[in-house]
Amino acid sequence: MMGRDRIEYKTPDQVRAMRRAGLVVADALAAAREAIRPGVTTRELDAIASGVIAGAGATSNFLGYHGYPATLCVSVNHEIVHGIPGSRVIEAGDIVSVDGGAVVDGWHGDSAFSVVVEPMDPADVALVAACEDALWAGIAALARAERLGEVGAAIEDAVRAAGDYGIVREYVGHGIGTAMHQPPEVLNYRARDKGARVRPGLCVAIEPMITRGGRGTEVLDDGWTVVTADASRAAHAEHTVAVLEDGVWVLTAPDGGAEQLAARGVRVAALD
Ligand code: MF3
Ligand code: CO
Repeated sequence: MMGRDRIEYKTPDQVRAMRRAGLVVADALAAAREAIRPGVTTRELDAIASGVIAGAGATSNFLGYHGYPATLCVSVNHEIVHGIPGSRVIEAGDIVSVDGGAVVDGWHGDSAFSVVVEPMDPADVALVAACEDALWAGIAALARAERLGEVGAAIEDAVRAAGDYGIVREYVGHGIGTAMHQPPEVLNYRARDKGARVRPGLCVAIEPMITRGGRGTEVLDDGWTVVTADASRAAHAEHTVAVLEDGVWVLTAPDGGAEQLAARGVRVAALD
């Protein structure tokens, strides 16, 4: 099992290097978010993120990954993850999930957000809020955890408390560092396995995916786009997070996650 494979623990200096990648990802996703409106194509969002990454002297870790043809994944409505940018036009009322990553000096960052285009269905707004809240609940749990399984348990509890949502199980979070995907896996649900021991230097991408229906998924004929089997709408949120001696630092959040984590009684680690 992947979770039993060797984990690449990072030194504080390596975490600082990863933060540089994480901040490029944050900038690229913020630029894409700003551009989301009816009429914009998913390819245009991709180009905007690509420009930010190149402008920062970074490279995309998505482009070319197992042949993946773009810088972002843009997944709309019942698409959950890995939607390929193209000629699709964003429409009023869409849920748009944007996932992106970057590499700086060999260190990877990976992050995603979902947003609802106006006029917003309140049920879609609640879905996106529940996913985002579950992500932060998972990050807060990581800050206190002895075992990584506590993250998935916290995510599942947060989702269940928010409403009757499906939690996708076929796709999970992951270790990250000198590669985008490393051991250990980071589940978005409670499992029998307690998971890897959480200790300083562990860096993971936590990424819940939830739906307004069931948890089943299918992959479209393009070989990438993951959709809900029941066509229910989905949301995805992701951050790259480092565990340090005195707590966690959210590498893909400009403030390290300070504001969101303070609201949950967690202080971010001092990285400087
Ligand atoms: N960001 C995705 C993940 O969270 C990976 C996308 S792989 C790609 O793990 F090939 F689609 F880019
Ligand atoms: Co990821």
